[in-house]
Amino acid sequence: MITWEQLEYDCKSCRRCALAETRTNVVFGTGSRNAEVLFVGEGPGRDEDLKGEPFVGRAGKLLDEMLAVIGLDRTKIYIANMVKCRPPDNRDPLNIEQDECIGWLRSQTALLNPKIIVALGRVAAARLIRPDLKITAEHGRWVQKKACWMTAIYHPAYLLRDGRKKPETYEDLRSIENKIRELCTNTELE
Ligand code: URA
Repeated sequence: MITWEQLEYDCKSCRRCALAETRTNVVFGTGSRNAEVLFVGEGPGRDEDLKGEPFVGRAGKLLDEMLAVIGLDRTKIYIANMVKCRPPDNRDPLNIEQDECIGWLRSQTALLNPKIIVALGRVAAARLIRPDLKITAEHGRWVQKKACWMTAIYHPAYLLRDGRKKPETYEDLRSIENKIRELCTNTELE
C-alpha cells in the first residue's frame, strides 16, 4: 500500500481538474495518521486555500468548539475534505471535481482504516453515505459500511448561518461521543 508521505506528495502535485488552476495550496488533510475517527468536510474555503490546512477559518473555529464539547481536539482525529482544492467563490464542488478527487480521500481512508467517519454537511454526506441523503432529516443517524460506522452532522458553516440547528447538533455530538466510547480503543476523550 502507498505510504502517507507518498500519497501527500502525489496529492499536492495533482492537476486532474480545473481547480488546480486557481488554487493557492492543495489542502491534503491534518490530524493523527493513527486516528480512529475521520471527519470529512466539503472543500477548502479562502482561509484554507491560503494556509493549506482544513477548517482554519470561522467554520474551523466552530468545529474546534464542537470537538471540545465531546473532549476531542484535532490531534486525536483526522480531518480531510471531499475535494482538496478550493472551488472558486466557495461554490459547491462540481460532480466532475469530486469524481477526480475522491481517489485521494479513498486512499487516505484506506491508510487510516477509521472505525468512525463523520461527514460534515450535505455534500460529504451525499458522497460518502447516500446520494439522496437529506441532512435535515437524517443527521445523527448511523449507518455501517463494512467495519466502519458513519454519520452525518450539519456543516459548521451552516451552523454559523443558522444557529437554531445547534441544539440538534449537540445531540449528534453526544451520539458520536457514545459511538467512540463503544468502538474506539485509542481515542481518549477528555
Ligand atoms: N469548509 C469545509 O468543508 N472544509 C474546510 O476545510 C473549510 C471549510
